[in-house]
Amino acid sequence: MGITPTDVEQEVRSVDIIVSKGNEAGDITYANPIFFKLAGYTQSELLEKPHSIIRHPDMPKIIFKYFWDSLQEGKDVYTFVKNLSKDGSFYWIHAHVRVAKNPDGSFRNYVSTRKTMSSTARAVIEPLYAKLIVAEESGGMDESLKVLEDFLASNGASLSTFNDVMTKLQNS
Ligand SMILES: Cc1cc2nc3c(=O)[nH]c(=O)nc-3n(C[C@H](O)[C@H](O)[C@H](O)COP(=O)(O)O)c2cc1C
Repeated sequence: MGITPTDVEQEVRSVDIIVSKGNEAGDITYANPIFFKLAGYTQSELLEKPHSIIRHPDMPKIIFKYFWDSLQEGKDVYTFVKNLSKDGSFYWIHAHVRVAKNPDGSFRNYVSTRKTMSSTARAVIEPLYAKLIVAEESGGMDESLKVLEDFLASNGASLSTFNDVMTKLQNS
């Protein structure tokens, strides 16, 4: 959206819980005050806009593919995201995203609850995402999928246990 990313990092405090909800297309239908504060937008600038408005170019495509594939299967997602603010600054978060259902079982919305990322996770995830981006630039998502699968395999895991690896990293 014409935003130039900077090296300025915003602090996500350990007490912060950043919440947003989205419709089936991923448009923002609700967000709490800390979401707007970190993203640097007003409510009217963000409501009904796609969540990708805060997508950072350092985020690999393959992570969002896993994200949407899981949600479409009705599975929760636990992952790490680097987000881009309106002023170009960034903030890392650990996200839990789930599908909320109506009492009749129909789709209600997607709900993301984000917290600060552990430093242990940051030390592993930042270089991993950089490798995934390089792979995507040379060989597209086929290539980054291989890099991701190798990383998971080195942790005794696979895509089906992606969430477990991320949760373990967050808690270590
Ligand atoms: C509830 C919900 C929360 C989301 N939160 C974020 C987020 O914090 N940052 C982000 O980059 N994408 C988030 N997304 C994913 C975006 O919809 C989008 O898929 C992603 O930014 C990649 O952009 P692209 O699909 O245009 O490539 C969220 C989606 C949903 C449904």
